[in-house]
Amino acid sequence: MTAIDDKTVVREYFNATGFDRWRRIYGESDDVNKVQLDIRKGHQQTVDTVMNWLTAEGGLGGLSICDAGCGVGSLSIPLAQAGAKIYASDISEKMVGEAKERAQSILAPEQLPIFEVKDLEGLEGNFHSVVCLDVLIHYPQEKAAAMIGHLSSLADSRLILSFAPKTLAYTLLKKIGDFFPGPSKATRAYLHREADVVEILKNNGWKIERNAMTKTQFYFSRILEATR
Ligand SMILES: C[S@@+](CC[C@H](N)C(=O)[O-])C[C@H]1O[C@@H](n2cnc3c(N)ncnc32)[C@H](O)[C@@H]1O
Repeated sequence: MTAIDDKTVVREYFNATGFDRWRRIYGESDDVNKVQLDIRKGHQQTVDTVMNWLTAEGGLGGLSICDAGCGVGSLSIPLAQAGAKIYASDISEKMVGEAKERAQSILAPEQLPIFEVKDLEGLEGNFHSVVCLDVLIHYPQEKAAAMIGHLSSLADSRLILSFAPKTLAYTLLKKIGDFFPGPSKATRAYLHREADVVEILKNNGWKIERNAMTKTQFYFSRILEATR
């Protein structure tokens, strides 16, 4: 399968069955199974870690932040509440629609992010910080450098990325998962070697400022904060 195919599959998935699945996982309702509940908790830990990093020195007072691949707004909304000026985009129209609805029900009109349906590669502008959580799982290794390079060109001071790390244990776990494909596994999942991601970041002029790992039973995500 080519990368172009991958992207089309991902877009269609997150506009259909993937939308329904992830809207529930990234929500508060009871209609999730045990695995989905575990993923919800793990993902929330990732969001909390990033919020703690970004607010460690106080409020975000008008800082411009791009949430690239924003999903249903799980990070955009608390960032906007903390005072940041948020630009948020996602390849999926349905995910963006849900993010907008959630934001409108929670935020004051002046806090509302600018939401757009856009592919990461189509993003333009300059932001103080760019954050891209759990999107690299949809990118094969050979496409990761161009994607990170593009996000780097949009970020003045900080780039935060999270990805599923390619370790022996997780590679085995993924293989076992691939043996039992459920309806939820409609897209390919790509793990990335941390050393590869770090090298790409360094090649784009970044240094690694902080890192963290979220690990629950079914969710794992390595988070890197890079600064100039
Ligand atoms: C696992 S979800 C993570 C959502 C969000 N970042 C979060 O952590 O809550 C992955 C999201 O990436 C989006 N996505 C995947 N490939 C993309 C691309 N090439 N450009 C923009 N968004 C993309 C999907 O539509 C989906 O909403």
